[in-house]
Amino acid sequence: MSSAHTKPAQRPVRPHFSSGPCAKRPGWTPDVLSAALLGRSHRSGPGKERLKEVIDRTRSLLGIPDDYRIGIVPASDTGAVEMAMWSLLGARGVDMLAWESFGSGWITDVAKQLKLDDVRQIKAEYGELPDLSQVDPERDVVFTWNGTTSGVRVPNGDWIADDREGLTICDGTSAVFAMSLPWEKLDVTTWSWQKVLGGEGAHGMIVLSPRAVERLTTYTPPWPLPKIFRLTKGGALIEGVFKGETINTPSMLCVEDALDTLKWSESIGGAQTLAARSEANLAAVAAWVEKTPWIDFLPNDVETRSCTSICLSLTDASGLDEEVRAGVPKKMSTLLDEEGIAFDINGYRDAPPGLRIWGGSTVETRDIEALLPWLDWAFEAVRATLHNA
Ligand SMILES: Cc1ncc(COP(=O)(O)O)c(C=O)c1O
Repeated sequence: MSSAHTKPAQRPVRPHFSSGPCAKRPGWTPDVLSAALLGRSHRSGPGKERLKEVIDRTRSLLGIPDDYRIGIVPASDTGAVEMAMWSLLGARGVDMLAWESFGSGWITDVAKQLKLDDVRQIKAEYGELPDLSQVDPERDVVFTWNGTTSGVRVPNGDWIADDREGLTICDGTSAVFAMSLPWEKLDVTTWSWQKVLGGEGAHGMIVLSPRAVERLTTYTPPWPLPKIFRLTKGGALIEGVFKGETINTPSMLCVEDALDTLKWSESIGGAQTLAARSEANLAAVAAWVEKTPWIDFLPNDVETRSCTSICLSLTDASGLDEEVRAGVPKKMSTLLDEEGIAFDINGYRDAPPGLRIWGGSTVETRDIEALLPWLDWAFEAVRATLHNA
C-alpha cells in the first residue's frame, strides 16, 4: 500500500468515473460530431434517417426483438419512465420495487402524483435487494434493473413470470449495454444516452413489448396526459415515434454523438464486449477490495453487485468511528479530484456515505487499476489529517 506521502506512480489516463454523465468512449473527440445534421429540420429526410439509424443500430446491438417498438423520447430516462407510468398504470394493481433513491422516486410518482389506490411497495435498504418472489405476476411491476445509487442490481430476470398478466416496467438506465437484459421478460425498458455509452444528456429511449403496446391501445388512463407523454392518438399507437418522428425537437448534436457511440460499440464486438468490459472493471475493483481491509462493497450479496455503479463503504477496519468515517469518502473524492485522478466518485447524496466508481463499458480497466492505489493513498492522506486534528 502506498504511504500518505508517496503518490502512486501510475495515473488513470482518463479520470472520468462519474455515474452520469459517464466517460465518453475511448478515443472520443469533438470531431466525431463534425457531420452532425445541424441547422436542419429533424423532420427533414436526412434528419429522420439519423434518428431512425439510432433506433436500428440500438435494436441490432442489443438484440431487441423485431416486434418490440423502440422510441427516442423527451426528458432523458426520467421522461421515458414517467411517460410509461403515466400512459400505462392504473389498469391493474402495481408492485413498486425500490432499494435506493431512483426506485423510491418512482414510488413517489405513483403514490403521491398518480395517487393510485392499489399500490404495493416492496422495498429494501441500501445494499440489499427486496424479496423479488413477492412480485405478483397478475399485477404490473415497476423496478430499476440497476440501482445506481446503491450499486445493487437484479442478478437476472428469472423472478419475472413468462405468463404474467401484468406489465413489467424496467428503468434500465444504468444497466442497458453493460448487462444482458431478457427482453422477453420486459414490457417497457428505458434508458438515456449519457450512461453506459457515455453519450449526451437530453433524450430518453423507450422499448415497448407487444403487450405494452396492447395496453396502450386498449386502456385510457383517467388523468390528463401532456403532449410529451402521448404515445397514442385516437386509440392508436403513434407509429411515427418508433421510426424517428420524435414527439418534439431533439438535439441532432446528441443524436450524432449517440450514433458515434453505437458505431464504436459495434466496432469492438457488440453487446457482449461491452458487458465484458464492464465486468472486467468490477473484477478489478473486487480484487482490490478483497485485499483491502478498510473498504467493502455496499451490496451485501456478490450476485447483486453492479458492474456499472460500483458502490463501496468504509469498514470497521478503517479504525475510524462511524461519525468520523462518514465524512471520509467526500474528503477522499475532493482530494482525488484536486489531483486530477478521479472526478465525481463520492457516493450519491441520499446513499450511505461511501465511494461510487463508474465501471461502465466506456471506462478502461487499466484506468480503474490505476485508480485503486490512489484510493489507498487518499484514504491514508485523509486519515492522517484526522489523526492530526
Ligand atoms: C436508475 C436511474 N433512474 C433514473 C435516473 C435519472 O435519469 P435522467 O437524469 O436520465 O432522467 C438515473 C440517473 O442517474 C438513474 O440512475
